[in-house]
Amino acid sequence: TSYFPHKNNQMFVEDIAVSDIAKQVQTPFYCYSHRAITTSFDDYRMAFSDQDALICYAVKANSNQAVLTTLAKLGSGADVVSMGEIKRAILAGIPANKIVYSGVAKTEEEINYALSLGIFQFNVESEPELGLISKVATELNKTAAIAFRINPNVCAQTHEKISTGKAENKFGVPISKARLAYQQAALLPGIKVQGVDVHIGSQLTSLAPFEEAYQHIAQLVEELRADGHDINVIDVGGGLGVTYADEIIPSKLTYAQMVNAQLGHLNCKIIIEPGRSLLANAGILVSSVVFVKSGEEREFLIIDAGMNDLIRPSMYDAYHQIIAVDTSTANADSKTLKTYDIVGPVCETGDTFAKARQVHEAKTGDLMAIMSSGAYGSVMSSTYNTRMLAPEVMVKGCDFSLVRIRPSYEDVIKQDITPDWL
Ligand code: LLP
Repeated sequence: TSYFPHKNNQMFVEDIAVSDIAKQVQTPFYCYSHRAITTSFDDYRMAFSDQDALICYAVKANSNQAVLTTLAKLGSGADVVSMGEIKRAILAGIPANKIVYSGVAKTEEEINYALSLGIFQFNVESEPELGLISKVATELNKTAAIAFRINPNVCAQTHEKISTGKAENKFGVPISKARLAYQQAALLPGIKVQGVDVHIGSQLTSLAPFEEAYQHIAQLVEELRADGHDINVIDVGGGLGVTYADEIIPSKLTYAQMVNAQLGHLNCKIIIEPGRSLLANAGILVSSVVFVKSGEEREFLIIDAGMNDLIRPSMYDAYHQIIAVDTSTANADSKTLKTYDIVGPVCETGDTFAKARQVHEAKTGDLMAIMSSGAYGSVMSSTYNTRMLAPEVMVKGCDFSLVRIRPSYEDVIKQDITPDWL
């Protein structure tokens, strides 16, 4: 949150007051710090500088074109999971040979598109997918470079909805079947086996589960090489977790050193696919208080952002700090703090950002910032309750630009078609 400091009781994004942006962009809106994104990317790059590593930003975390362009200019590759994400990455200037393509349900059309662009690697999640890639590649007279995503059956110790490396999850090929899968792949036309991929989950706060997974992967690489496969890429999956409340996260350097300790001796190119750790703390969701409502048991702070804008609290019971943008009524005396349930406008009880949360006493019109919203925020938003997708703003120094507009109601409603037989 240090890119959003309070100075003279006013929250800033880099060198511009959040309230100044809010005067020009109506709430709710997302606001990103260009410097924060750049700094976290550089941290990864420096951490891995002594390894042959390619950072492939996980586009799903925040796919705004300005964000992707920022990362493209820093030399980032992309981890994509759909045709749409491939198009976004390419349009932002990320070269195809820095794109890895993950996902359990790649369609023929998507595979065709990725192959014709010449992406760096398909992270294959099943035998039927491999068969389809082989068929499409043969038709196009191309060769698809592949890695199997290995499910190492490791507990990621994170929220179950974002745990992906257990045998019960839909992802990847079970490690017990991996050698057989590679053997089949080597026989298929249009397929070049080049690597191994693993991703066990997101928001990991400890290195231990990563370490356990990478040990299994190292051993598998040795076995695959002994079987005669030319393995020269290891994709180590998503990045570190982030601090939402008080989680203590290992540094990127410690992580990189651990990767090197576990996998360095194999002399493979390392791919890393961080999303959250590049974006989460580079963004906030700015909202205004609509009403302060006294319930029978508690006070509600009703704000103009809802679960349709940021679904993490209702979907994963995620904690996000919520901070008053203007704290000028504050003094050392904590009497100016009040306890509220902070809720949105959507007609669901789940539309709750925080329960019994202490924030500065607020009134209608006050701006509130929901922190750590740069990753899995805007990208997971919807128009539920016919609420328009929140616009996005990027700040650089003392300037800001609107990087996504707020659609008009007319634009959204006119996408529906009322048949003339009605
Ligand atoms: N690679 C693959 C194959 C992934 O599935 C993911 C995330 C990543 C990389 C990036 O992981 P990260 O560095 O961001 O941890 N919506 C959830 C998070 C879902 C993550 C899905 N996969 C949330 O809001 O917490």
